[in-house]
Amino acid sequence: MASDTAGSWTPVALSADLPPATVIPAWTPVGAIVLWRSQSGRVSAAADRCPHRGMRLSHGFVRGEALSCIYHGWSYSSAGGCVRIPAHPNLIPPETIRVAVQRVEESDGIVWVAVGEPEMALPCLNRFVPIRSLTVDADIAAIEVAAGGKAGADGLIHVADCSWTRLLPTAQVGRTLIHLLVERDRNLADQVAASRIAEAVRRRAEMHQKDVA
Ligand code: FES
Repeated sequence: MASDTAGSWTPVALSADLPPATVIPAWTPVGAIVLWRSQSGRVSAAADRCPHRGMRLSHGFVRGEALSCIYHGWSYSSAGGCVRIPAHPNLIPPETIRVAVQRVEESDGIVWVAVGEPEMALPCLNRFVPIRSLTVDADIAAIEVAAGGKAGADGLIHVADCSWTRLLPTAQVGRTLIHLLVERDRNLADQVAASRIAEAVRRRAEMHQKDVA
């Protein structure tokens, strides 16, 4: 779960926000990454920098089982090795051309990326369904104040106004990404209500952050 220490899991995105053959930027406590899902559904994470000329790979595109850089089209496998250089179609790229990759797991509709070597297993969140993610211009402490609850051992923040809702936060640079989770048996109206309450928590957290700055 979110942590500023090595050896942890970071909840970087919702599975639903990463359909097959798509690529998105994401963040861990140690920096920007690119997150992508191949055509067959495999999720991969790597440093968000092309080894060729440094273009962000999150601007790239997925073709089949490889991620291609938008600049000169160099393509990388989920293991990080360069598999194609369009300007030299007959060349087998040397193994030294590769991007640093991170371990990725998907569980309960959330994509988790390992930072370092996590000693703990992923938390079991199968009581909940992830609904959406929100970026909050505030730290986790301000979000806890706004939600009226503290993060538990599973990393989830209880929301005082909405007992069936939890917030799963992950710290980013100067802001926090929160994933909104709702108890699995809740109906659509409850999910909409939880979404509005999460937006209210965001507003309060950002005001609180300004007040303490
Ligand atoms: S910068 Fe990525 S292929 Fe050239």
